Amino acid sequence: LNLRLTTNTSHVIPPTLYGYMWEDINHSGDGGLYAELLQNRAFQGVIPGTQNALNAWQPYNGAFLSVTSKTKGVSDALPNSLQVRIPKVVNGPIGFENTGFWGIKVQQGWTYKGSFYAKSDTFTGKVAVSLKSIQGTVFASHTVGGVSKDWKKFTFEFQPITSAPNDENVFNVVVDGKAAAGKIIHFGMFSLFPPTFRGRENGMRIDLAEALAATRPSVWRFPGGNNIEGHSIDQRWKWNQTIGRLEDRPGRIGDWGYPDTDGLGLLEYLNWAEDLEAEPILGIWSGISVANYSDFGTWPVVPEQDLQPYINEALEEIEFIIGDAKTTKGGKLRASLGRAEPYNLRFIEIGNEDQFQPASYAAYRWKAFVDAIGAKYPRLEFLATTLPSTALDPPYRRIDFHMYNSPSWFTTNAFMFDNYPRNGTMYFIGEYAVTSTNDTSALGDIPSGRLAYPTLQGAAAEAAFMTGLERNSDVVFAAAYAPSFQHIRNYQWTPDIITYDASRVVKSTSYYVQQMFSLNRGTHVLKTSPASTADSVPLFWVASYNNETSTVFLKVSNTGTADLVANIVLDFRITGFVTATSISSPSLSPISGLFNVSNTIDEPEQIIPVANSFAIPLPDRFNYTFPATSVTVISMQTS
Ligand code: AHR
Repeated sequence: LNLRLTTNTSHVIPPTLYGYMWEDINHSGDGGLYAELLQNRAFQGVIPGTQNALNAWQPYNGAFLSVTSKTKGVSDALPNSLQVRIPKVVNGPIGFENTGFWGIKVQQGWTYKGSFYAKSDTFTGKVAVSLKSIQGTVFASHTVGGVSKDWKKFTFEFQPITSAPNDENVFNVVVDGKAAAGKIIHFGMFSLFPPTFRGRENGMRIDLAEALAATRPSVWRFPGGNNIEGHSIDQRWKWNQTIGRLEDRPGRIGDWGYPDTDGLGLLEYLNWAEDLEAEPILGIWSGISVANYSDFGTWPVVPEQDLQPYINEALEEIEFIIGDAKTTKGGKLRASLGRAEPYNLRFIEIGNEDQFQPASYAAYRWKAFVDAIGAKYPRLEFLATTLPSTALDPPYRRIDFHMYNSPSWFTTNAFMFDNYPRNGTMYFIGEYAVTSTNDTSALGDIPSGRLAYPTLQGAAAEAAFMTGLERNSDVVFAAAYAPSFQHIRNYQWTPDIITYDASRVVKSTSYYVQQMFSLNRGTHVLKTSPASTADSVPLFWVASYNNETSTVFLKVSNTGTADLVANIVLDFRITGFVTATSISSPSLSPISGLFNVSNTIDEPEQIIPVANSFAIPLPDRFNYTFPATSVTVISMQTS
């Protein structure tokens, strides 16, 4: 292949092009990015008296545990508490343990900060908390006193004297058996945090936050995804129940089968987007809930005449985010929570995947939200969530639609935006991923081709598609791989870009593709000749120029199973070295089918990017071999 890179630019690349979509799925928030170590910390979203309500809690030395709402909870939002009944005859310490999110990482040198509430009509002794291995080794402990009839919050800090060899550790809470014999003690709203990303209180798990931040995303779409919508209309994500003291957040039954604490709430998301320097794309609940499909035969939709309260809810949420701290109710509330300065907010996404309810969306839901919000906030820009073919009034100027499919679908569709109309409409691929090798069932099960983890083959296909997104970034303004996170011990969706357990992190092949594309951003797309190839050679590329650093980037995906040599000719001269960063599988043979290789929790570094710098014999041309099933970014410094 002869590939010529010209000096002609075709258009400016929007700085928003690469980013993430975010929702709590696969324990991506609770048990994932949100650094809280205790699962079911406040008994939110559980039915008192059931065994399920004790999820992640277990008795220690014969105490009787139950979750109750019969005694007043620690707050109106948290009516449930843990009732601990101590037998009449007991020896030694007795109490209960939390097993964390399938384990707890114990790290020497870290300060863990914790708290809990307790009350008892009869017990006034001491309470000891510790981090222990399941075999009983104590790594850190602290004792508090002063339990009385009324709820009291106890806080503590401790530092493990040594690191635990593995995650099989628990948070243990005990009282003296003799002093407590025959008594009942109530406990509520526990919390235990390790150090967090940038030291933020109620913040993010450092290794996961660093992994995301290391890709320098420029948009952050939240809070869903399906998880904005709720199992019922009342169980939708409600912004005003995710702010303020943790004790005032009731949590909710999330859409992905587990309760959300909402500790990761609206302000945490906005602060996190700022930390990432990513522009928020705020999803607004648009009048549908996703569940009970079988009961309704369709998804529950709010009728037009009943929509106004939900529109008001959205208006209040936006005022909370951008309202003036002195003159607006929402702004004052935000300031009272410690943030006077309004947040940067430009994009409002009306709903999620409303192509599944296009009739009501087109008939009134889209219009009702856009008209009301637009009238009050004329500078905001709205994203529709139907398919581009659905006509809306007012016409959409931006739209988010999603793609989960096979490698061959992504390579075949790498050119889909070449022919999209250039009429001012801007597209956001707000969720996409190679999910299966099955061309006819992209969201089936693993035996039918669904990927457990992203594969090299899938990542190369995503990269091929992304060359099309970048080349067409005059109409594609943003794109987000989804979903982002997966706790390997409890998840609902595969594949995901980052997998983890209580202490390990796996960056997938797709992660590295996102990172390579995002870190090597041009300001302008550079024209090439040929502009692109489709059929004859499975090589996909896009070239760009960064006018701030005078760097040219050539991003190439070879989706084939053979190495391909390109004779690259430049209409400009390179100064210095060429650097090529790539992921490929040099040691694995295509014949064995191992291009489906993945990074996994047990083998996390099978595929990692390799960077090579080399001098080229002539300043304006060189040959480069793109390995079979590989993704490469070549960066060239021009004068
Ligand atoms: O990313 C997982 C789910 O896929 C999202 O919640 C939903 O928007 C899509 O259908």
